[in-house]
Amino acid sequence: MIFKTPRGTQDILPSETWKWQRVEKIINETCDTYRYKEIRTPLFEQTELFQRLVGETTDVVQKEMYTFMDKGNRSMTLRPEGTAPVVRSFVEHKMFGYPDQPVKLFYTGPMFRYERQQAGRYRQFVQFGAEAIGSADPAIDAEVIALAMDVYKRAGLTKLKLVLNSLGDTECRTSHKEALIAHFGPHIEEFCGDCKSRLEKNPLRILDCKVDYKNPLIASAPSLADYLNEESVAYFKEVKSYLDDLGIAYEVDANLVRGLDYYNHTAFEIMSTSEGFGAITTLCGGGRYNGLAEEIGGPSAPGIGFAMSIERLLLAMEAEGKSFVDEPNLDVYVITLGEEAKHPGFKLLSELRSSDIRSDMDYMDRKMKGQMRSADRLNAQVVVIIGEDEVAENVAMVKNMSDGTQEKIATGELIEKIKDILTR
Ligand code: HAM
Repeated sequence: MIFKTPRGTQDILPSETWKWQRVEKIINETCDTYRYKEIRTPLFEQTELFQRLVGETTDVVQKEMYTFMDKGNRSMTLRPEGTAPVVRSFVEHKMFGYPDQPVKLFYTGPMFRYERQQAGRYRQFVQFGAEAIGSADPAIDAEVIALAMDVYKRAGLTKLKLVLNSLGDTECRTSHKEALIAHFGPHIEEFCGDCKSRLEKNPLRILDCKVDYKNPLIASAPSLADYLNEESVAYFKEVKSYLDDLGIAYEVDANLVRGLDYYNHTAFEIMSTSEGFGAITTLCGGGRYNGLAEEIGGPSAPGIGFAMSIERLLLAMEAEGKSFVDEPNLDVYVITLGEEAKHPGFKLLSELRSSDIRSDMDYMDRKMKGQMRSADRLNAQVVVIIGEDEVAENVAMVKNMSDGTQEKIATGELIEKIKDILTR
């Protein structure tokens, strides 16, 4: 029996993890600059949370959730996204009572969706997301978008497109929904089973149906833009003017609807425009979700946020030919020759590490040549060689790998000498 990673998942190997750590560092630093604090929620939640908040008629809830009964016969679901858990936590921990409003949170962690695997689409993927809950100020919409753009910028990406839309408030959505039902209703027999069930509950979903997208009735459907009321138009205008203040370019796309039900007012996506990028160009998606906290018994707490997958961020970097500075080197490799040298070498290794010097030694009983090869492979900047003669003399040979020079150094002065070479 040969075991492999389950379809749609991947092992992130040490040759790649360092890149993830760099991205996570950028995320943590950028969020700190914007005063977003990290939140960590469980990997699974009650299934009903997602059904209620993400929406019964969405693909995510209907087709993509990893749902299971636990031993107590309760239905649980591996989180397919982070907003519902964060809003649950906001309500559960009464964060609406915190003196600092809005509450600004971020998270980085695995999400699970049973999707068809392709480049950039996985069944387990890591989302970095941010949520600002408690304010209906259009300036915070622009702040949240700026945070996402800033993370990409700090990762070196330049080929980005921000697409915006307004989904309006409940009033405009209700009148638009009625118009859609009147538009599609008489012809619903031409549509797929999913669309039929969407008609009454959520006809907006018909517009991004993956089966019927070529049906001309979709192109001629009433546009939400024509149903936006005055307040929604004014709100959207403010968001755009705050983005203008920040010099963030955007395109307005009246067809941008997003795949989750909780959105209203601002909806946005950030795409990669790099030629090398695959078929899936969306790097990040988000929007406003006023009313979501009330949906699960909390007080009114308007929110906005986004999420981006780290996998797609790294793919976009690759497509743009951007890379981080080289994989971190090893500072020191300690070579020991003979039994007597092993103990002093082992102790030296520990001293080096206590001084925060990245170091390693041989544990495979290799000969001098083999140990030297390891040091080369690991890109060590300094090699310390301890043989029986060195032990007797209480010294070690220190070799600077960048210029090839070597020097005998007294044991007591080793750390200082090595530090000196490393900082040169
Ligand atoms: P979403 O559009 O479903 O929104 O996902 C956001 C991002 O997660 C996508 O743009 C993409 O980068 C990544 N993503 C989604 N599915 C996959 C997948 N199967 N494989 C790889 N990456 C994927 C949300 O999840 C919302 N919770 C965003 C949000 C936060 N809205 C408000 N606050």
